[in-house]
Amino acid sequence: MVNARCFEGLVREFKGRTPRSKKLIERAKRVLPGGETRSITYYSPYPVSITSAIGPIITDSDGNNYIDILNNYTSLVHGHAFGPVVDTAVAAASEGIVYPAPHEAQLDLAEHLIERHPTAEKIRFTNSGTEAALLAIRIAQAVTGRDRLVLFEGGYHGSAPLISGPHPQVIRVPFNDAAALEAALDDTIAAVLFEPCLGVGGVIPADREFVRALRSHTHKVGALLVADEVQTLRASYGGATELYGLEADLVIMAKLIGGGYPIGAVGGPAQHLRILDQSEPGAIAHSGTFNGHLVSARAGLTALEHLTKSAIENMNASTEKLANQIEISGRAHGLPVTVTRFGSMMHVHLQEMRPTQAAHVTPDSTDVAALHLALLLEGIFAAPRGLVALSTALTDIQLELIATGYDRAFARLAT
Ligand SMILES: Cc1ncc(COP(=O)(O)O)c(C=O)c1O
Repeated sequence: MVNARCFEGLVREFKGRTPRSKKLIERAKRVLPGGETRSITYYSPYPVSITSAIGPIITDSDGNNYIDILNNYTSLVHGHAFGPVVDTAVAAASEGIVYPAPHEAQLDLAEHLIERHPTAEKIRFTNSGTEAALLAIRIAQAVTGRDRLVLFEGGYHGSAPLISGPHPQVIRVPFNDAAALEAALDDTIAAVLFEPCLGVGGVIPADREFVRALRSHTHKVGALLVADEVQTLRASYGGATELYGLEADLVIMAKLIGGGYPIGAVGGPAQHLRILDQSEPGAIAHSGTFNGHLVSARAGLTALEHLTKSAIENMNASTEKLANQIEISGRAHGLPVTVTRFGSMMHVHLQEMRPTQAAHVTPDSTDVAALHLALLLEGIFAAPRGLVALSTALTDIQLELIATGYDRAFARLAT
């Protein structure tokens, strides 16, 4: 679709606008492999380096401004430096930063999550979504006395070997395929890890029918159903679990529940989480220097308190409108643009087919890289692979500027 001359032109213009970012990455390469420290944020020729970010605006080291439509991969649901979160975090830092003992802020956040999420009757905190996924797996293995896991193709639960690559304990099945799931399940499976909408995998929502089958098939073989709501919690007050009327056995949360600070959590019924109760014989030991961190707990609660039902509805409505605008504008330029959406997340695919499984998503290509560079040149900060996650910080004017930015980026690709 994008010819070589067009792509080279985009790279040249990008390099012309970002000399300081280039200098920084060259310096970084001397001490950090590849010059960065988070694989998903790397792109060619080099990622821009950020010097500040306030509300929905990111500024890079060359003074270029971008409207942020990624929001640290969904974790900054109110945008950057959100006043109430900054105030709470500064206060928490001045009260001690982190304590080696239980404290009220953990309790307040746990109570809020329990009030909010249908699956959570008790909560255990970790430092990341990855750790929460691994802990949920340990709980499921302990509860069932089984080892093996079922995960979905294109599903993402973190960067640990057990859950990220091929692993002898793990069977991967196609998403939205009830028959394949049923065939993979037997009485050796401890848990099925399930994103109600594949996030990193391309924002592909689960079919309602598939969710019903998932619940009944897991019940049949006695495997625990673990809902990964690390990204989807933002879709409604009680997350995607509430939207689907799902009865999960455990839930994993992270990202936005820390208000932008590192956090993770596992929620579930008392009967499953009691395995972590250190006053009981045979409890699982689960420690972490920063578990239940004071700053993350306070900042997270503040962010969640501002993520009201109406804030969510507004964000979802803005995302729906923007998704339609982007698809219409891409098609008007003669490009095969298909936008998938779930709540306030969407993915801009450069393909005709609307994907319902990860295998339907065209692998990373020059076209995808070209759209990302063109968006940066138009002042829009999206994910290199096409993920978009809006924030409550965006004004109507900025939402229109995003639609215009996509239109202009598509025009660059179509020439
Ligand atoms: C659905 C999902 N689960 C788990 C994780 C892992 O979370 P973390 O990056 O905090 O380890 C991610 C991160 O992108 C995610 O999107």
